[in-house]
Amino acid sequence: MKQYKIAIAGTGYVGLVAGVCLAEKGHQVICVDVDENKVQKMKEGICPIYEEGLQELMQKNYKVGRIDYTTDYKSAYKDVDAIFIGVGTPEQPDGSANLSYVATVSRQIAESIEKDCLVVVKSTVPVGTNDKVEQFIKDSLVHNVKVGVASNPEFLSQGRAVKDTLEAKRIIIGTESKEAEKILMEIYEPFNLPIVSVSRRSAEMIKYASNDFLALKISYMNDIANLCELVGANIEDVAKGMSYDPRIGEKFLNAGIGYGGSCFPKDTKALKYLAKQNGYKLRTVEAAVDVNVEQKTKLYKKACDRLITFNGLKVAILGLAFKPGTDDLREAPSIDNIELLLKQGAKIYAYDPVAKENLEKKYRRKNNLCKNTRRSFRRC
Ligand SMILES: NC(=O)c1ccc[n+]([C@@H]2O[C@H](COP(=O)([O-])OP(=O)(O)OC[C@H]3O[C@@H](n4cnc5c(N)ncnc54)[C@H](O)[C@@H]3O)[C@@H](O)[C@H]2O)c1
Repeated sequence: MKQYKIAIAGTGYVGLVAGVCLAEKGHQVICVDVDENKVQKMKEGICPIYEEGLQELMQKNYKVGRIDYTTDYKSAYKDVDAIFIGVGTPEQPDGSANLSYVATVSRQIAESIEKDCLVVVKSTVPVGTNDKVEQFIKDSLVHNVKVGVASNPEFLSQGRAVKDTLEAKRIIIGTESKEAEKILMEIYEPFNLPIVSVSRRSAEMIKYASNDFLALKISYMNDIANLCELVGANIEDVAKGMSYDPRIGEKFLNAGIGYGGSCFPKDTKALKYLAKQNGYKLRTVEAAVDVNVEQKTKLYKKACDRLITFNGLKVAILGLAFKPGTDDLREAPSIDNIELLLKQGAKIYAYDPVAKENLEKKYRRKNNLCKNTRRSFRRC
């Protein structure tokens, strides 16, 4: 195996997991983040996010000197073979993806690299962004070096990010040159996983098309669940019956409180926006978004039908993160419901095994956080 010297820009769920797994597979990795506290924590062996198995791998690879963390992007980027970009691409008010973090990293790369280098965009970005990143970096280079840009979207699922990376179902690489393709093939060779090599634009689209398909599946099942309630069918039995059909598959058939998190909500809106920009109406994805907006507060509305008011009532909220196994509260349906309940004057007793601290940071004194489910029930 050829060992590559790799820098990672951004140590969130995607960047940190990618960095740690690349180190675990034998590459030399330096992780860069703008957040000094985070970098300090990581240097002490503390994982800044909750992901099963991540802290152990961080400590193991730090001990043998295969991974390090820094805020000093200049020295980190200057002589590496590849730089993976894993910064956020959050939603803007109009639904489009905010590419300002990607733009900042691109500028930092252009001013820092002193050696030929492949820039790999892992962040989820609209089709055509890799082309712009390449042009921008080439136009802004300070040193006379050769730079290529490749797309390598990430498909990990929070809560099982390490496993999803080390045992990924597929690795998508989007390149426009044989050289870039060869480097990425070699970087991923020790993972021994299926690699699908396509153009950069196709790789960018594969990411959105995959996420939006899953969001659509969730909204479809929620839509069917709502109809089941009206006609006296049991959605769990219906899902079970559907799941045996290999054309449908058994995953993502659970009806519930709607999707949340840092990906599905923004990626559905970003694709809808991209379609609109290109004069196309993406009706299926629009329907998935509409169903989800209503689904998130359906429980609350049901409760409202039964109670005169929530004012002064104690309400237990069990489960805060947008799904199990993560501490991420971004776009979690729990937050929409807590907001509505607080507005009505309810007193919240909330519990989540791993997302408690994040809720505490978000609300400070507004809520009572309970140490366990029994305590939150007792107080209500
Ligand atoms: N979270 C997921 O499950 C997931 C899965 C697949 C793809 N993605 C995509 O990956 C990207 C990153 O998502 P995330 O959830 O890891 O984000 P995140 O918000 O958890 O992490 C982003 C990190 O980048 C850092 N950062 C910002 N500017 C920087 C700079 N100039 N240099 C270095 N670091 C910088 C931030 O401090 C932060 O630590 C997004 O585009 C997202 O859509 C996320």
